[in-house]
Amino acid sequence: MKFSTAALSASLAALAGSTFAQKLEILSPGGPNLWWVAQSDNVISWTCTTSPYTNFTVLIANSNPSILTSPLAILPQEPNYDCSKLITKDQINQPPGTGYTIQFANPFNETDVYAESQQFEIKNVGAAYPATSATPSGASTPATGSATGSSSAASGTGSPQSDSSKNGAGSLAAPSGLAAAAIAALGLMFA
Ligand SMILES: *[C@@H]1O[C@H](CO)[C@@H](O)[C@H](O)[C@H]1NC(C)=O
Ligand SMILES: *[C@@H]1O[C@H](CO)[C@@H](O)[C@H](O)[C@H]1NC(C)=O
Repeated sequence: MKFSTAALSASLAALAGSTFAQKLEILSPGGPNLWWVAQSDNVISWTCTTSPYTNFTVLIANSNPSILTSPLAILPQEPNYDCSKLITKDQINQPPGTGYTIQFANPFNETDVYAESQQFEIKNVGAAYPATSATPSGASTPATGSATGSSSAASGTGSPQSDSSKNGAGSLAAPSGLAAAAIAALGLMFA
């Protein structure tokens, strides 16, 4: 069995390119694994290391106009370097429902949306938070993590899902997906 070092370095370069591309993605909330809980503290996390923006306005939107007629600003100017942000129950008061998204927009023009999360649910007050191991379910992040939510602390008493400024879990979600992709790529190469 032989492998080409040229192919290996080309592949690693491609991987590095995808890892360091200038891209802002909202990691949480979003998708079926990463919901919010009404009247509770919740967390937003994003790919701050690859974001080309220094700051943005954070908004919440809903695909159903009877829930939210237009996107509502939560934070007027959020610095990118925070990487994640705890949204307290006093900063937002949206009713439970599905079809919500978080938008990051140009602070001078809120309809110039830089990034939008996957749709997520706001569950009833008292619902468990997502498991801290929950990962985004987007196509760009292979579904290596498992998230059921059932492992969370008892209703309404736990702390909110990881604030990645404290323990890094939120910001690690994407890199771990990329690491899995790297391992898969190397596995193919040496097969
Ligand atoms: C915030 O972002 C805007 C638009 O990109 C930029 O013009 C401004 O300088 C930024 N402000 C800070 C404090 O970084
Ligand atoms: C705001 O952004 C939207 C979407 O990018 C654009 O169509 C619109 O012209 C912008 N408005 C202003 C005043 O620049």
